Amino acid sequence: MPTNKFNPWEIKGDINYKKLIKEFGISPLNQLPEIFNKEILFRRKIIFAHRDIQRILQAIQNKKKFVMMTGLMPTGKFHLGHMIIARQMVFYQNLGAKIYIAVADIEAYNARGQSLEQSKKIAEDYILNYIALGLKPQNCEIYFQSERSKDAKKSNAYYRLQNLLSNHATFNEFKAVYGDITPGKMLSSLLQASDMLHPQLKEFENICPVIVPVGIDQDPHIRLTRDISKRVKNPKFTQLSSTYNLFISGLKGGKMSASDPTSYIASTDSPKEVKKKINKYAFSGGQPTLEEHRKKGGNPDIDVSYQYLKILEQDDNKLKEIYNNYKSGKLLTGELKALTIDTINNFLKQHQAKMKDAKKDIDKYLA
Ligand code: TRP
Repeated sequence: MPTNKFNPWEIKGDINYKKLIKEFGISPLNQLPEIFNKEILFRRKIIFAHRDIQRILQAIQNKKKFVMMTGLMPTGKFHLGHMIIARQMVFYQNLGAKIYIAVADIEAYNARGQSLEQSKKIAEDYILNYIALGLKPQNCEIYFQSERSKDAKKSNAYYRLQNLLSNHATFNEFKAVYGDITPGKMLSSLLQASDMLHPQLKEFENICPVIVPVGIDQDPHIRLTRDISKRVKNPKFTQLSSTYNLFISGLKGGKMSASDPTSYIASTDSPKEVKKKINKYAFSGGQPTLEEHRKKGGNPDIDVSYQYLKILEQDDNKLKEIYNNYKSGKLLTGELKALTIDTINNFLKQHQAKMKDAKKDIDKYLA
């Protein structure tokens, strides 16, 4: 029996979202303003839960300043799973948010033993992907945890906050939130707390609402940071808001894992690789024989190819038709896979061209 593990650095076993929502005390995401429906991730409930999103909705409605802050641990290739956060950066930027993105190179060093140089190289590839997905250089700060800013005032403020926050947390809280805890992990989580709170310092944007979109595995960090920030008297932080997305299924089920190339579709995969990966590995919700499939139909809800269509196919009617036809047995697994391969390859062809183009612009993002 595999033991179930669920913390920001390790996920093992099945993910029971309902249970996590309850345990973590987050709220399902229900009615959102119409403008959110433009993004299929909201429309299709791939972003499914939140804390305090109303503060952000108010800021949008009243045209008040707000920040979207998130971070990435640059390990392995950029894959379809990473797109979920990247698309939200672009979405909130288009809504007028100021975007803060932390490259968690210190966390990668402390939690994964990856060198800062290696993180830097990989991060550049991630940033090219963000640009290709539509992130603009205006109103956008991308920084490395190991080098917040060339401006000493800003840099000092960020690291000072990390240090001062430690006074407001207890060891038992760390243990309760993370289970296994090492000095490196503890520092990384305080640094992540500073990532999320520092936009509100006077050296940055001043007190304002901040939304942090993450995968649900990151909620322990958010819980801890929300608790700590309440205890800080000066400045009086506005409580963080957050949203949570489902993990994009790995090819064989489970999560897309950067350490296993047969678990993901990378943004740099060739059409041939995509075809091979989908045909060979993508877990099917179909029946074992053709006769059975025609009679009983397939299960799109567990079919991995269908999950990929759900994040890539923009046309709701087309998606619905595929869903219904697969469920009724009219559409066969081979046909569903062929459709998926086509959709991914069409997307990647354009995306890869944009990534190539993005190379000349990357310095505008790394001020
Ligand atoms: N811990 C995050 C990860 O593993 C990366 C991260 C660092 C982050 N700082 C952050 C995420 C701030 C959200 C907000 O991917």
